[in-house]
Amino acid sequence: MSAAQKPLRLGILLSGRGSNFLAIAENIRSGRLSGAEIAVVIANVAEAPGLAAASEMGFETELFVSKGRPRAEHDADVIAALKKRNVDLVILAGYMRLLSPRFIAAFPNRILNIHPSLLPAFPGLDAQTQAFEYGVKLAGCTVHFVDEHLDHGAIILQRAIEVAESDDAHSLAERILVEEHIAYSEAIARVASGEFELRGRRYIKK
Ligand code: GRF
Repeated sequence: MSAAQKPLRLGILLSGRGSNFLAIAENIRSGRLSGAEIAVVIANVAEAPGLAAASEMGFETELFVSKGRPRAEHDADVIAALKKRNVDLVILAGYMRLLSPRFIAAFPNRILNIHPSLLPAFPGLDAQTQAFEYGVKLAGCTVHFVDEHLDHGAIILQRAIEVAESDDAHSLAERILVEEHIAYSEAIARVASGEFELRGRRYIKK
């Protein structure tokens, strides 16, 4: 980012622990991730520890409980909260909810997700356990743009680790999480730089 450029405004969406959010926040604070700032943290679950952490840290937060609400109605509230804060990039950080087509259309190629597997292998829930039980030798995480399909959009980057003989599903998930915390900030920096183009599904650095 050049000095004249304004930082990209991030809207973080989460449902739980929030360790990816915390890693991004720490990387921005320490200057490892420049060119981005957190505009708002939004949760769909009242008890999400990530939401409490965000508000303790002084970030703007919003809670829109999604349980029992029609997806389009809930998403309209979230979109409005993001637009109100001029969010440039939506960061799904353990957001356990599919986005409506309207949400995706409101932020074209401006929504990122992180998934704890080397996609397209093991989309969906408990990806680390799926990978472990399948017996893969390489595991990892993927940061990708979000489209209408689950864990599917164009891949920005992946980080891989070797599965150790001593691993169990839990230790593997922990080691993948370490990679996630590096990968997400790196992907945000790449998108913030604007120095890329999408050729079909392929993310190409300019
Ligand atoms: C991470 O494993 C992420 O890849 C997946 O959900 C989990 C969220 O963890 N999408 P946290 O809430 O960021 O700690």
